[in-house]
Amino acid sequence: MARQKLAVLISGRGSNLQSLIDACAAPDFPAEIALVLSNVEGVQGLERARKAKIQTSVISHRDFADRASFEDAIHERILGARPDLVCLAGFMRILTDGFIKRWNNRLINIHPSLLPAFRGLHTHERVLEAGARFAGCTIHFVRPAMDDGPIIVQAAVPVRADDTPDTLAARVLEQEHKIYPLAVRLIADGRVRVVGERVLIERAAPAEGTLINPAG
Ligand code: GRF
Repeated sequence: MARQKLAVLISGRGSNLQSLIDACAAPDFPAEIALVLSNVEGVQGLERARKAKIQTSVISHRDFADRASFEDAIHERILGARPDLVCLAGFMRILTDGFIKRWNNRLINIHPSLLPAFRGLHTHERVLEAGARFAGCTIHFVRPAMDDGPIIVQAAVPVRADDTPDTLAARVLEQEHKIYPLAVRLIADGRVRVVGERVLIERAAPAEGTLINPAG
């Protein structure tokens, strides 16, 4: 089957983008990155993309009078890459309903908490303040409300007594780098279905030639 095409939207460091670049380098990974789009010039994520010889584009929100015209511009640019899936990976602009609906169930985001807990910014500080015993990260389909939408994959990590926001962020980030490629693989393999705003993950199809026990 042809590899699914991804557009990855970033605003900064791009370590999650790097996890996708690394995953796509494996010949059996079912997706490839067709475009990396940043709304900020000069960020590390763009460097990572160029190093991997991926097409990049910078569209600064500052060049537009309002959110709608900025979104029209990025929409056109993304369309040009003909992606099957759009991945937000540290993209720090709020997207409006209009944009989100145009990419319904083809737009996913990573958030550094166990949603629906701790939506928004400064999640690690807030996890520590709340005394939560577990933190984690979530890949979800994007819906108009912030950090909302059907959950595709999550990973949890323990919170330690001596954690600072930075040590906790580092432990969560390690998991982010695992679950983003995992979620993309599940979607690209056609195993993800959204039913009633919940995600169902279908079992992997058996490899060709595998004997199936009808009783099992
Ligand atoms: C990550 O923690 C991600 O969960 C959040 O923004 C951060 C982006 O990091 N949405 P990077 O740019 O992928 O390194």
